[in-house]
Amino acid sequence: MRRHRERAMGRARPEQRGGPSIREFLRYYVLVLLDEKPFSARNLRRALRRRSRENQQFRPSGVLLASARDLRLVLQQLSRQGLIEQSGDEWCLTGSGRERLRAYEESKDANGTGKERAARKLLSLMGTARPGESTLDVGTGEGFLAFQLADKGYRVLGIDSGSFDYSKESIQSARSKAQSCGGQVEFRKTSVADLAVTRASFDYVVTSQAMHCMKDQRQCLDAICRLLKPGGTFLCMDFLVGLEGFLHHGWHCLLAISREEWRRLLPQRGFEEPDCHKAGDYLVVRARRQLNGQCGPC
Ligand SMILES: C[S@@+](CC[C@H](N)C(=O)[O-])C[C@H]1O[C@@H](n2cnc3c(N)ncnc32)[C@H](O)[C@@H]1O
Repeated sequence: MRRHRERAMGRARPEQRGGPSIREFLRYYVLVLLDEKPFSARNLRRALRRRSRENQQFRPSGVLLASARDLRLVLQQLSRQGLIEQSGDEWCLTGSGRERLRAYEESKDANGTGKERAARKLLSLMGTARPGESTLDVGTGEGFLAFQLADKGYRVLGIDSGSFDYSKESIQSARSKAQSCGGQVEFRKTSVADLAVTRASFDYVVTSQAMHCMKDQRQCLDAICRLLKPGGTFLCMDFLVGLEGFLHHGWHCLLAISREEWRRLLPQRGFEEPDCHKAGDYLVVRARRQLNGQCGPC
């Protein structure tokens, strides 16, 4: 009951996170922490929570609470590779660990961010518009995806709640651009949850770099399910949870949903099994709304 009330007020507690994506991030970030000083496993978990605190600005539950089991697995793996060693109950970085860390830092400069690449992947997964097909772009901002979709022939509605200082004026500027482009694109200031209680429904719902900004991601997915026609397709591009995501986007990448979390969350919420595609430091996810499935409550 208390948990339900906290969620309703956007105060959900952090949940433990694990799985391959989080372990990939930990294999890097444990080296970063141990480069500063030795840590026990328990203090490493606390440090991760403290360092990710800025994520609370977006979502109160956004700090990283790494699963103790996954952290233990990563420590064992790094130790087997000779990158860290144990002294009493504390872990320290070895010379090879320091070299590995430098190599990670250099790889960061080598690869640029892949937003355009991810958008190309998302558009290719949509295929070609058939006459009359409608698309909703959730968290459209200034219409990054909406305009590209209108160019491909889709009828597009871009919505944005204007939730952040930087996004308050986004819809206004998207509307001004739309006047000069003359495509089939319209913009509205509203949240996805508010739109879902209307009778609106779409062939596609897309979203770019916005899922990680949602205060309540589960509620947002339930709303998206309701806004899709049965059999309609949801496509999402957002930061990759893992090493490349972290090297390019820092702690914000951990506000996004990892591929293993998508695979668990979507079938529970009225979608078919999703397919996930890595595009550099982004993840592109595609899932159809089940024909007879139930969406969660709005
Ligand atoms: C990082 S911006 C991404 C903008 C754009 N899609 C892009 O790729 O450049 C995320 C946007 O999501 C919007 N947003 C956050 N929560 C929302 C919600 N519940 N419903 C609709 N939009 C939301 C924010 O206002 C913000 O403009």
